[in-house]
Amino acid sequence: MRIVLRIRRFDPSIDREPRDVDYPLDAELTERILDALIRVKDEQDGSLSFRRSCGHGVCGSDAMIIAGVERLACKTLVKDVARDEGAVVTVAPLRYLPVQRDLMVDQSVFFQKFRSVKPFLVNDEPVAERERIQSQVERAAFDDPTSCILCGACYSACPVLEAKPGYVGPAALVQAARFVFDSRDRGFPRRMSVLDNPDGAWACDNHFNCTRVCPREIKVTKTINAIKRAITKAKKGSA
Ligand code: SF4
Ligand code: FES
Repeated sequence: MRIVLRIRRFDPSIDREPRDVDYPLDAELTERILDALIRVKDEQDGSLSFRRSCGHGVCGSDAMIIAGVERLACKTLVKDVARDEGAVVTVAPLRYLPVQRDLMVDQSVFFQKFRSVKPFLVNDEPVAERERIQSQVERAAFDDPTSCILCGACYSACPVLEAKPGYVGPAALVQAARFVFDSRDRGFPRRMSVLDNPDGAWACDNHFNCTRVCPREIKVTKTINAIKRAITKAKKGSA
């Protein structure tokens, strides 16, 4: 089937503004958009820039806005976004992060926010036995957030960041939840200044866009609301 990839291009050395460029190509309905992009780069314009690594939805490096929605290019098939002969499929970089070139964004702020929630196990207590024992129920309490691949799709889809660029964002909150709800972790008080903050969990307005676009089907909004409840409970406990 003939399709057109309309790709948002931006080369900071020559462009003052991003521009959309059309790349017509023949594609199978079952072809991945990532493969179509690679073919455009190989066959039509070698300067086209985008990130990818694993090609299988694991590394999170090829999140971009395809047909107006945040998706992983390696997990999006042509048939997901184009049905008719000649269909135009728009491809653009994620929002709220500076574009380095074409579909590549500068992820520095995204990862600064990720690091701000202390996304690691905090526990200074001596280990009683050889390991910190955890029941299956306790392990299940933080299973969902462990699927996060830090792709940034939820961050780009969140309308709150439009008005509040300081918002730590859904991905960082999911990563915080990975440890907040881990029975072995003691770091909640140290994370409170970031989480219990107008730019922390409370900035979430429950738009659910994050949950809709997450390629790992993490219940992002539900997780953020669980953090809000944990903050309230902790503050009641210390009152
Ligand atoms: S929560 Fe989902 S959408 Fe957000 S960074 Fe993690 S995997 Fe990507
Ligand atoms: S290339 Fe790794 S998630 Fe798509």
